[in-house]
Amino acid sequence: MDKLIIEGGHRLSGEIRVDGAKNAALPLLAATLLAPGTHCLVNVPDLRDTRTMLKLLEGFGVSWHRDDDGTLWLNADTVDNFEASYELVKTMRASVLVLGPLLSRLGRARVSLPGGCAIGARPINFHTAGLAALGTEFFLDEGYVDGRAQRLSGTTVYFDIPSVTGTENILMAAVMARGTTLIKNAAREPEIANLIDMLVNMGAKISGRDSDILEVVGVDELSAARAAVIPDRIETGTFMLAAAAVGGEVKIMDCCPGHLPALTEKLHLAGIDIDHGDDWIGVRRNGSELKAVDVKTMPYPGFPTDLQAQFMALMTMARGTSIITETIFENRFMHVAELRRLGADISIDGHSAVVRGNSNLHGAHVMATDLRASASLVVAGLAASGITEISRLYHLDRGYSRLEEKLCRVGAKVRRERE
Ligand code: EPU
Repeated sequence: MDKLIIEGGHRLSGEIRVDGAKNAALPLLAATLLAPGTHCLVNVPDLRDTRTMLKLLEGFGVSWHRDDDGTLWLNADTVDNFEASYELVKTMRASVLVLGPLLSRLGRARVSLPGGCAIGARPINFHTAGLAALGTEFFLDEGYVDGRAQRLSGTTVYFDIPSVTGTENILMAAVMARGTTLIKNAAREPEIANLIDMLVNMGAKISGRDSDILEVVGVDELSAARAAVIPDRIETGTFMLAAAAVGGEVKIMDCCPGHLPALTEKLHLAGIDIDHGDDWIGVRRNGSELKAVDVKTMPYPGFPTDLQAQFMALMTMARGTSIITETIFENRFMHVAELRRLGADISIDGHSAVVRGNSNLHGAHVMATDLRASASLVVAGLAASGITEISRLYHLDRGYSRLEEKLCRVGAKVRRERE
């Protein structure tokens, strides 16, 4: 197992590049199951989760290779297996994204039911209810959801809570269903628009992109397509928060400034200078005081739950008290105990964390508990005095590629070591 060693307190300055979005790449990879032929995906990040998805696809019969420039070619002429094993699903819940495409292409999907997760129970009842409404019969068999369908039929699917992967699964099931499907209270995350663009390139008929009502008119067949993964807004936000925490001047390149409306506004209120061009964001903090700001996580375009932990790390250093409320997942405060080990003063009151700022963080040995919690420890460790050691780095490797290399290039002192 690897650990990260951070020598804190070094100002950041220079340019830092953002990779393709993990949470956009995963549904795009799953969508290749829908049509025979050779699909071309560019800007797919090389992460533990994207490698897991490629392993899943191989298991279904898809063959793939990656060019030196990172372009992925995936041939889905043969899709002759429909089972996603416990071994793979337990390492990545997003494996559930294969349900919709497999039911659409083969009329059968058997996917291990993901168990609980460090951040919450995360059931998949919206996915199965929507797919059942489209005509799938589900059985639970030895921990697997086993779905069978003749050709799916269009219907209305309403989400009680907008679900990101739920919306993606229903979209991928509906594109080849008979008739029209309406998805109401759909999630509006940019990753969904990215998937819609790929499906439309494949020949799907979808309207309502970027809105919470999507209309899908089923077609008889789809063909292989080319798609580009959008920049990772969570990686972008993590770098913005690191620059705000440590101080300095950082230009974040190859990103999409329009995808971070809530974070940009909150950082502005906290006293951070931000400017941007079409595909870059500049973050500057030169000795200015950081102000406490309250945050509540919400579905897009609200404040992303995937940046809540990193924002909390920043608020431990702000003047005043900030209330951070998590509304998406019931257990996403695992980082609090670890931030306290670095000297933060945080208490939890139900779904809110009360962060009393002005803490002078100092390095300590801490443990990563999930992907974004790990990123918050990196943000805190970069700003803390002394050495911070973060164990269980495999969580971080699920969603950030070459993080230490990128941070070192802008002046941080970070290295990876074997434990
Ligand atoms: N929910 C249900 N039933 C369902 C589906 C969702 O009750 O069938 C609930 C969830 O428990 C949660 C809420 O609905 O309370 C919203 O969850 P959502 O389904 O939107 O989450 P997800 O699709 O499982 C994706 C991202 C997560 C991100 C969330 C919220 C991917 C692969 N994962 O998860 O990313 O936190 O949306 O934005 O897109 C991460 O990257 O670290 C990560 C956890």
